[in-house]
Amino acid sequence: MRLRMQRAQPWLAIGCAAALVIGIAAAAARPIVGREGLLPPGTELNEDVLDQPTELFDSELAGGKRSYLLNLGDMLFSSPAILGGVARQAGMSCESCHQQGTNNAKLFIPGMSVRPGTFDTTNALFNPKNDDGVFNPVTPPSLRGAKFLAPYAHNGRFPTLRDFIRNAIVNEFAGPGPSGQVLDALEAYIKDIAFLPNDKLTEGGRLSAKASAAAHRGEVLFNKPFRNDASMSCSSCHQPTASFVDHETHDVGTGDAFKTPTLLNAGLNAPYFHDGRYDTFDQVVAYFDRHFDLKLTNAEQSDLVAYLDAVGAADQPVTRDTVQIELDEIAQFASVLDTAVPEKNGEVITLTTDTIGNKWRELGENFPGRTDTSVGGGLTERLRAIGAAREQVLNLRRVAMASSAGDFDGAADALADYRKQTAIAAAAMKQAERYSLFNPQVRAAHFRALQRLTEMAAAAR
Ligand code: HEC
Ligand code: HEC
Repeated sequence: MRLRMQRAQPWLAIGCAAALVIGIAAAAARPIVGREGLLPPGTELNEDVLDQPTELFDSELAGGKRSYLLNLGDMLFSSPAILGGVARQAGMSCESCHQQGTNNAKLFIPGMSVRPGTFDTTNALFNPKNDDGVFNPVTPPSLRGAKFLAPYAHNGRFPTLRDFIRNAIVNEFAGPGPSGQVLDALEAYIKDIAFLPNDKLTEGGRLSAKASAAAHRGEVLFNKPFRNDASMSCSSCHQPTASFVDHETHDVGTGDAFKTPTLLNAGLNAPYFHDGRYDTFDQVVAYFDRHFDLKLTNAEQSDLVAYLDAVGAADQPVTRDTVQIELDEIAQFASVLDTAVPEKNGEVITLTTDTIGNKWRELGENFPGRTDTSVGGGLTERLRAIGAAREQVLNLRRVAMASSAGDFDGAADALADYRKQTAIAAAAMKQAERYSLFNPQVRAAHFRALQRLTEMAAAAR
């Protein structure tokens, strides 16, 4: 889970009205003017929601344990340090656009997005050398089931995931050429991201008894040959036995040839089509009715939509974030050090301590400090939680410094201290959880106060 609060913004200091609530903003503030001026004003990265997309791994669903490579890849996916240029400075990572390995329907970066949920990967800000001078934002696809969905990118120009990952790091985000172990890990992580279980669908891609009658009528239409071309049906491209893809690109009248997207869990992937032009399946079905001249009746169109809803569903689409979930993720990331420190793997130690340090910092920011008057009680508990997070950042810095100096015994000692402190920090944070932004009421009060602050600051200008 990647909940994060933004650091206080300089504009908060303006006006005496603002001074009333300045303390709230010192604890946390929304990304209203962009990260320290690096990203354009009005940037929305959608980082402050409690309900996060559920993320499951095929290896875990099969009863296995998370491997070293999976944990390393998962960790790197939220590491700004593997990117370069502005993205790295702004603290962005793969995760910023692929939340929990999926899409990000709210992502909006002025000048690079045409509408929420889109992004122009060849722009002048993140890598001037890669700018093609064309404004053509596309959606970040969900990576669920990615291993079944080759080729990669909307226009399918990358035959393998590995090629795409290298391209994302080096060309899109001006990062250094990734090492073999970085590529191996990111590839292993992405290949393990599972489609979410959906009890409306059987293994073979047929509807189950749980799906509605309308959906079952829609299934028949989905497989029915088109009236103008009997060699084609919805299912000739979206093949139910093959994760609803055909690994081909087609020009379906949307501007160019694009790869057939999966329809599994697609109800969670809006906006639709490569450029995110449609928000609903109704619009998509109405479009195909026109494009393929299907002459579907209104009832048939709504049956087809019911079918897409059923195929595109998930039993548990979102998971409410908690202190425990955050701690579990940090523990999974930190387990990488149990291998990397004995192996004296400097590159991985540096990347891991940096990323987990950020995670502790972000976790700590969920506990409002002394000056945040929007929160009623639990000050002692909150301060203890904040202090515990800080301590962990320092412990990790000691691991990193010892490792950079080639002192791996020292790194092992510092890691042992980190482990001891982890148990203490976990207890402190759980005690303070109900006074933190993990509590929906506290969260609402906090953001209401921030909203008032924004309005007062605007009025004072
Ligand atoms: C600023 C937003 C953003 C960031 C950050 C980002 N991506 Fe993407 N990603 C996209 C967009 C947009 C596309 C579609 C690109 C295209 O079609 O050319 C994409 C496509 C992909 C695909 C292809 C999926 C498919 O099915 O075709 C993969 C894999 C991927 N990204 C992985 C990554 C990794 C790994 C990172 C971090 C190194 C990353 N992305 C960082 C926006 C982003
Ligand atoms: C010739 C192959 C082909 C046929 C036939 C076809 N599709 Fe598609 N479908 C595509 C392609 C390609 C896209 C992506 C277009 C784009 O990105 O601009 C797409 C996109 C979609 C999407 C949006 C998914 C997303 O995540 O963006 C849905 C839903 C969909 N199709 C359903 C259907 C239905 C229902 C039918 C039958 C009426 C159908 N398709 C017929 C190839 C096809």
